[in-house]
Amino acid sequence: MSKLIGVLTSGGDTPGLNAAIRGIGKAASGKYDFDVIGYEDGFKGLVQNRFIRLEKEILSNILTVGGTILGTSRDKPHKMKIGNKEQDMRDVIVDTYHKHHLECLVCLGGGGTQKTALKLKELGLNVITLPKTIDNDVAFTDVTFGFDTAMSIATEAIDRLHSTAHSHHRIIILETMGHRVGWLALGAGLAGGADVILIPEIPYNIEFVAEAILKKIRLGKRFSIVAIAEGSYSIAERKKINKVNALRRPSTTKGENKELNKKIELIKSKKKTTLELAKKLEIMTGLESRVTILGHLQRGGTPSPADRLLATRLGTTCVQTIFKKQFGNMIAVDKDSFKLIPLEKVAGKKKFIPNDHPWIQSARLVGTCLGSRKK
Ligand code: F6P
Repeated sequence: MSKLIGVLTSGGDTPGLNAAIRGIGKAASGKYDFDVIGYEDGFKGLVQNRFIRLEKEILSNILTVGGTILGTSRDKPHKMKIGNKEQDMRDVIVDTYHKHHLECLVCLGGGGTQKTALKLKELGLNVITLPKTIDNDVAFTDVTFGFDTAMSIATEAIDRLHSTAHSHHRIIILETMGHRVGWLALGAGLAGGADVILIPEIPYNIEFVAEAILKKIRLGKRFSIVAIAEGSYSIAERKKINKVNALRRPSTTKGENKELNKKIELIKSKKKTTLELAKKLEIMTGLESRVTILGHLQRGGTPSPADRLLATRLGTTCVQTIFKKQFGNMIAVDKDSFKLIPLEKVAGKKKFIPNDHPWIQSARLVGTCLGSRKK
């Protein structure tokens, strides 16, 4: 009898998920003789034992389709919402896993999924993860699938905003996703030639941004494009967050940590919105300002060829890894190849843009304002 692989997609959907599912399914039933089932709606499907068989017909015609045929959710097995309460459902997941005699559970997800997968590994399950997210913030992998598509969409938006901003002599601010990291805003901003790029890794000073736009006006450029990641902060806002974070000690209790998290959430909820930023820049520069928030458009639709290729290769590599019984790892991208990263190492880590990253250097060299003077 063939051994069984279980697959699920968790967290925000990402272009390329179906390509990865197809890659796993085709390689599994081809050379390796595994059967594959897919759990629906992330870890919730494992808890509720809802699954579909990933057979030939289902895997046909999904390579180019966005989203995930399995459905997804942000549910976490250790605190799953059941009615009005949060419950630890890990035991139920372990039961389902053994009931199906799974050889391995493959979790396609971002940072949160790596953490959850580690918790299941610690319960003795064979788990492998594939790194996906449009944010590109999973640690220890060069890139995540979904990022290339989202960056292309954001770049096209900047391209299109150029002509209208130029015609009306306006500032147009494009807000991209990226609540913790700025890969999308920086990549698309650089590729689209934004005049200003604001990212969470470099807190901004609005005076400095206005100054950069005014300088362009003096040089005859009467419009500006600003690309901003949704999680960008001003220097003052970032200082407030850092002050709270500095209170954390190794001796800080779970309860105290929760209180500190609450304080940070409060600061974040009061942060200047992109609309407010636009109003302020309008007053400071005299240029009319408008805002475009790309939102979920960046996650929808057909994956780019690069994402289809990467996701397919990750899917097929995943089956080879299962065949070799190299469980408990994330399959990370390492240049044009792959490497295995133990889940203990990747869980809880984020890939921020370092200050000396080549994209940052290049942006500064082409004269893009990054919101603060270079340190
Ligand atoms: O984590 C990926 C991501 O697309 C982020 O960039 C964004 O902040 C978040 O998901 C949005 O989540 P949701 O779809 O749950 O609103």
